[in-house]
Amino acid sequence: MFDYRSMFDLSGKTALVVGAGSGIGEACSHGLAAFGADVLCADVDAEAAENTAQEIRSQHKGKAEAIGLDMLSPRRVRAVVEREGTPDVLVSTPSINVRKPLLEITDEEFDRVVELNLKGTFRLVRDFGRGMAERGSGSIIAFSSIRAQTVEPGQGVYAATKSGTVQMLRALAAELGPRGVRVNTVAPGVVETPLTAQIKDSPDWYDSYAAKSILGRWAQPHEMVGAVVYLASEASSYVTGSFMLVDGGWTAADGRFTPPL
Ligand SMILES: NC(=O)c1ccc[n+]([C@@H]2O[C@H](COP(=O)([O-])OP(=O)(O)OC[C@H]3O[C@@H](n4cnc5c(N)ncnc54)[C@H](O)[C@@H]3O)[C@@H](O)[C@H]2O)c1
Repeated sequence: MFDYRSMFDLSGKTALVVGAGSGIGEACSHGLAAFGADVLCADVDAEAAENTAQEIRSQHKGKAEAIGLDMLSPRRVRAVVEREGTPDVLVSTPSINVRKPLLEITDEEFDRVVELNLKGTFRLVRDFGRGMAERGSGSIIAFSSIRAQTVEPGQGVYAATKSGTVQMLRALAAELGPRGVRVNTVAPGVVETPLTAQIKDSPDWYDSYAAKSILGRWAQPHEMVGAVVYLASEASSYVTGSFMLVDGGWTAADGRFTPPL
């Protein structure tokens, strides 16, 4: 009989989380470890990655190591592949946003956002995906956003990278599916992390975002973890090429007006 209770079990699996030093990546590192994975916490901020790994070791009694990794550096990414080998699960979270009208975005700002969000993600999934394809197994999870689907002023370049990530990973899913590797994206709504600290500091902005989603509030980072554990585990063995919204219903309803009913 199929063992339903072990569907989410990650014992014996290795997970590399890039962006593990903060926000959603930090929460995902904890969540993957709590379900049994050995987690390699990677971040350009090596100290932050080490803090996450230390917390995992003390809170989950799980195996966790930290590594400084700048995904903007092709050489560094290749060195980590060579030294650490190929994980069973790769989670990629790092992204930046420059909130400005498109008419005011400079070439340098455009390049900076695309370089990390799209090219950095590309570099990770290419270099770790190769080993997964050779081995014939693996799960790749990259963070997109509701901005892949719906936009507002000032999000043009960020939104382009987030929908670009979805299409790039769908193509990767199509290329690697026959070789045993699943590839999916997760699209959060608004989550309280350092990335969105600027919004939290502005009550009008913060409250209007809370009201926009059907659930009427922001998410906490741990609320992104269920999707990641699901996509990392056997529970999602028939799921690839998917774009998984975890947005409190943000994209399901337009939220501008509730008519009298
Ligand atoms: N927070 C939200 O409301 C929200 C909403 C939608 C989508 N997302 C997406 O979720 C993902 C994670 O966002 P977050 O809020 O946790 O961000 P965050 O800023 O809290 O964390 C990002 C982490 O990435 C690391 N990082 C930055 N550049 C790096 C590099 N070159 N190499 C390696 N690591 C690097 C940072 O040091 C940091 O630890 C992003 O892709 C973001 O677009 C977030």
